[in-house]
Amino acid sequence: MTVSLWGGRFTGGPSDALAALSKSTHFDWRLAPYDLAGSRAHARVLHRAGLLSDGHLEEMLDALGRLRTDVETGTFVPLESDEDVHTALERGLIERAGPDVGGRLRAGRSRNDQVAAQFRMYLRDQARLLGAKVLDVVQALVDQAAAHPDVAMPGRTHLQHAQPVLLAHHLQAHAWALLRDVERLVDWDRRAAVSPYGSGALAGSSLGLDPLSVAHDLGMPAASENSIDGTASRDFAAEFSFVLAMTGVDLSRLSEEVILWATAEFGFVTLDDAFSTGSSIMPQKKNPDVAELTRGKAGRLVGDLAGLLATLKGLPLAYNRDLQEDKEPVFDGVDTLEVLLPAVSGMVATLQFHEERLEELAPQGFSLATDVAEWLVREGVPFRVAHEVAGACVRACEERGIGLEDLSDADLASISEHLHPGVRSVLTVAGSLASRNAHGGTAPVRVTEQRAHLLKQVARL
Ligand code: ARG
Repeated sequence: MTVSLWGGRFTGGPSDALAALSKSTHFDWRLAPYDLAGSRAHARVLHRAGLLSDGHLEEMLDALGRLRTDVETGTFVPLESDEDVHTALERGLIERAGPDVGGRLRAGRSRNDQVAAQFRMYLRDQARLLGAKVLDVVQALVDQAAAHPDVAMPGRTHLQHAQPVLLAHHLQAHAWALLRDVERLVDWDRRAAVSPYGSGALAGSSLGLDPLSVAHDLGMPAASENSIDGTASRDFAAEFSFVLAMTGVDLSRLSEEVILWATAEFGFVTLDDAFSTGSSIMPQKKNPDVAELTRGKAGRLVGDLAGLLATLKGLPLAYNRDLQEDKEPVFDGVDTLEVLLPAVSGMVATLQFHEERLEELAPQGFSLATDVAEWLVREGVPFRVAHEVAGACVRACEERGIGLEDLSDADLASISEHLHPGVRSVLTVAGSLASRNAHGGTAPVRVTEQRAHLLKQVARL
């Protein structure tokens, strides 16, 4: 049976070319459970408004229940002739309840408010599922940090050795960024949990239906305050898409480091066999494909967001068919992260860190020069002078190919009157780390404390 939702004023059906262009069931079918839930809620609100008898409501809910089972088991699928998920399910309802009962459901609703509501409902579920998977990556980072609580590594700025930091501090920095992405999903949900049902095509309904009761029925605390906004706005989709892109970018920055760390030159980590790939020609290769695909897919997620914003930017109010293009980029983002996140958490959880290598490199590149300058400040020397003196130490060492800790008492005295052997107390990585003990610093005691704060936030989400 072909069910068209708008045949009345037309003398002929759509051309094949239009039907092919118009069709969206190949991507919007994933909204089917939400369409069915919306239909149940709509049947009940029609009944409450006196527009559906007790008997008709019962028949309608029974038919919708059978349709849901048939959708779940794959017995009911869209036909070539179904334009979208809403059309297909209306056909399914009419096939089960008959045209007299089934044909009553469309009163007071439009695909414009249906699709806007169902897109929100779908994304709200995805926000919870994806958020949990992002938290798995956070947990993997925190577990690695806890497994290597006192290992130092070279902290970098501009990718150059800067100051020693704890590996745990560095890993937890990635964890905080990802935690904020989960918080963004939670914040987003509060704004997204507003039901457009009742907005109709754009102007609201004349049938005395209560949109708020439908919203509550569907687990949303509020209904759209403005029916035009309810049907035409997609900032909820764009904002969601931004969070996916941001998550992709945060995962990509972590991945870029894993790629560098796994090179022979860095030698910081070995990837687990289960999370690396070989080469078809070079037998020795072990490639960080998970990290590279993450970096690559971050570009795709950014593209999804950019594409959606480009679709929205020129649209006058209210609904325009361009809005059918809103779903694929966001669905693509959801699907991308759904496969990416478990791979990233697995890769992180199985990274094998080379503690000796990290520790060996931590003091290199004169990364304790700042400690010399700050020691001088504690000795009462103005920082401007202290910076000069520490710089002169680096220059002297560089000329002679030695480290700061190799300067003799005489060397120190000849560089500056302010330098005395006491400075050696800060010329160790452990001393440097321990000294950075203010809130947020890399001192071991602070990093352990920080990890407890992180875990508390994870537990709250
Ligand atoms: N499938 C459409 C969408 O995704 C909803 C249908 C609205 N169509 C219409 N002619 N008003 O946006």
